[in-house]
Amino acid sequence: MHFQWYPGHMTKAKRMMQENIKLIDLIIELLDARVPLSSRNPDIDELGKNKARLILLNKADLAEDKQNDAWMEYFKKKGFAVVKVNSKKGGGIKSIQGVIQEACKEKIERDRKRGILNRPVRAMVVGIPNVGKSTFINSLAGKACAKTGNKPGVTKGKQWIRLNKNVELLDTPGILWPKFEDQTVGLHLAFIGSIKDEILNTEELAAELIRLLEPYYPGILQEKYGIEETEDPYKCLAQIAESRHCLLRGNELDTEKAAILLMDDFRNGRLGRLTLERAE
Ligand code: G4P
Repeated sequence: MHFQWYPGHMTKAKRMMQENIKLIDLIIELLDARVPLSSRNPDIDELGKNKARLILLNKADLAEDKQNDAWMEYFKKKGFAVVKVNSKKGGGIKSIQGVIQEACKEKIERDRKRGILNRPVRAMVVGIPNVGKSTFINSLAGKACAKTGNKPGVTKGKQWIRLNKNVELLDTPGILWPKFEDQTVGLHLAFIGSIKDEILNTEELAAELIRLLEPYYPGILQEKYGIEETEDPYKCLAQIAESRHCLLRGNELDTEKAAILLMDDFRNGRLGRLTLERAE
């Protein structure tokens, strides 16, 4: 399976990010807790030089908790502030305000020394498509948010959400296009739904997921679908089709439907909480 990318999009997204990053103190980078490395865009480290950094392991509810903790340690060791969150249900969100202040304490101290008191921290949320940026912003801002108007020196049209007297958030998140030469990374991104399904062959994708799940979570598919086969992923799909009555006319097995069902079950956490990358 080979993934194709659209450099036009990437260049535009990068330009927007460069423009916005000048305005902010803190980058809040969302990763998908199920594939923390594949869902990171390495450009962010270059773009975000000299900024305070906060990594959120989002969709933590869909990933194995033990692995979430291991990934937290991994990123903490690299010097990032890290929080695991479930933006959809609000898990972990309450602690964010405190973590933001802590992550920005050097800037706050610098301001204080220069006699600038109470200037809010300005933050921007960034991440690859579908990682949960909008959900997170809504969850963090809640109902209490008030959009502040344009400010002098701020690019026209930029809107800031005032979270409280200490933090302002840029209301449009920065979209980082996934970046990879490694096709495994592409696969991981396809599994979590960050690459449009229309450009993928679902059966091939499902077969790859089956291949990956087997060593990490042996027996999981057998248990979920009441099947026996997982050595040959295509046979496995056929068995899922059989057990879930995915049939074409003439009672032929509809393995494409089974593949869609499997992908859907994985993405919605119905196979359980699964992490596809391990922190080394
Ligand atoms: P984006 O702005 O980064 O592109 O992502 P967006 O917020 O649109 O979120 C993408 C999908 O991920 C949404 O699902 C959203 O509900 C879901 N999501 C975001 N954060 C979390 C989380 O922490 N846990 C879980 N389980 N899901 C999360 P959707 O299928 O597009 O919409 P819906 O079915 O939730 O309405």
